[in-house]
Amino acid sequence: MMILGIDIGGTGVKGGLVQLPQGVLKRDPVHVPTPHPATPAALTRAVKKLMGHFQWKGAVGVGFPGPIRGGIVETAVNLSPQWVGKNPAKIFQKATGQKFIVINDADAAGLAEVHHGAGKKEKEVIVMITLGTGIGSALFHRGELIPNTELGHLTIRGKDAEKSASAKAREENDWSWKKWSRKVREYLQQVDRLINPDLIIVGGGVSKRAEKWLPRAAKGVRAKVVPAKLHNEAGIVGAAMAAGKSRGLS
Ligand code: BGC
Repeated sequence: MMILGIDIGGTGVKGGLVQLPQGVLKRDPVHVPTPHPATPAALTRAVKKLMGHFQWKGAVGVGFPGPIRGGIVETAVNLSPQWVGKNPAKIFQKATGQKFIVINDADAAGLAEVHHGAGKKEKEVIVMITLGTGIGSALFHRGELIPNTELGHLTIRGKDAEKSASAKAREENDWSWKKWSRKVREYLQQVDRLINPDLIIVGGGVSKRAEKWLPRAAKGVRAKVVPAKLHNEAGIVGAAMAAGKSRGLS
């Protein structure tokens, strides 16, 4: 069974066809830049564009960069504030006539990593952390997702962690990998102390270059720390998995 997975990020919107229950991407994913401002209307156009590219008719799973409670966006710090209080699945459905399942983007990436990637062998508590435009988190116990954790917004040295340990913070401040990895380390130590997971999976585009920063960032963290296996594609795969699950397909 094939499902279209879409990962909405603060920088790009990516889509790909995902084969379920295997959780593998068919063909290369497609990318469109996130519109600025990323209003509901502008993002709906981006979603439609991706669907057009794949000529997709059928269920769509979406990872959204904010917590989604009862279908409603609670916060969306890296998108337009117009999203707060809105129901993205309803908005996309109305515009396309297709069925949408929308979950938090880091929760989506975590689902893919826990079931098909770096977390496959760990049975107890797993935390997935995505380092991108923002910092996202996903918490799992025995494979079961506890949705909408927002560990990216922990306060470290009086500041939102996202402001110093995200991939965007490194780029904006022009920090070396070494300098940034110390900030990520302080952040991961805090997550480790507060959650006490058995495994921390670190994802986002930077996980492709994990050798540059992860060994230093993992020092002093008691949990095992590993890079994501599906890298930046985890969000697409997990979004499709969420849609598949809601339709009883995986
Ligand atoms: C949001 C999270 C999201 C993360 C990654 C954070 O700013 O609050 O919900 O998962 O960015 O996109």
